[in-house]
Amino acid sequence: EGQKEAKDISYSFEGPFGTFDRGELQRGYKVYKEVCSACHSMRLVSFRNLSQPGGPSFSDEQVKALAATFTVKDGPGEDGEMFDRPGVPSDRFPSPFANEQAARNANGGALPPDLSLITKARAGWYGTFNQLINGVGGPQYVYSVLTGYEQPPAEAAKDAPEGKHYNPYFASGHWITMAQPLVDGQVTFDDGAPNTVDAMARDVSAFLAWAAEPKMEERKSLGFATLIYLAIFAVLLYFVKQRVWAKVE
Ligand code: HEM
Repeated sequence: EGQKEAKDISYSFEGPFGTFDRGELQRGYKVYKEVCSACHSMRLVSFRNLSQPGGPSFSDEQVKALAATFTVKDGPGEDGEMFDRPGVPSDRFPSPFANEQAARNANGGALPPDLSLITKARAGWYGTFNQLINGVGGPQYVYSVLTGYEQPPAEAAKDAPEGKHYNPYFASGHWITMAQPLVDGQVTFDDGAPNTVDAMARDVSAFLAWAAEPKMEERKSLGFATLIYLAIFAVLLYFVKQRVWAKVE
């Protein structure tokens, strides 16, 4: 039995004019911080990106404060040793583990992947196309994994691998080392939005979609402006052509 197709939920940022929902991105950040960052990193995303246009739109003050809640490795210092310090806006989202070996030791041998590009990495080779045509892509995959834990069917349960969890949406076989990370009510949102597993999974998958493509809104509006420009240009060319060829029989 193959991997299950991701659940086709819809997001505000789908389609040629879709934009991110600021509130959703801010809640998604909170889920990432309070849950996912215990194991995962996002080494391609800096804290300062959280205040840039097209993203969660935190204020610079908020970004300073939230960066400082992360512990970042720096150095070597004067004694030649690495040391820990609170994060600053120019830091990247760190891994909580010192290195890959430490990460694997803490996770039953599995490596929690960096989540910067997870919504791109798992969209499949046809990802962009599938996202456009069917509305199912990387964010839906992440959502499906987070909400897709099940009791294994009797057949599969017989040879359940030690320390793994059954999840038919997981891209590398049905058994995933990550235990279900979200439980109902786990994160309390400042805007009072619902915090069921379903709601938190939506928010954090939207946040990860932004992380993987922080310039999406800019790309879409530039694309649209380009189409308008080309449309006007095409009309203009048509009249120029009529005029140039007017005297030719
Ligand atoms: C794998 C997301 C929390 C440990 C994954 C994958 C995703 C993901 C999408 C699958 C990647 C793939 O397709 O290869 C998240 C999110 C979290 C979260 C959004 C927060 C809501 C955690 C936590 C831990 C953890 C708290 C540790 C206790 C792992 C490990 C893997 C993994 C070890 C690799 C699984 C394997 O290869 O079998 N995570 N995760 N994750 N995650 Fe998480």
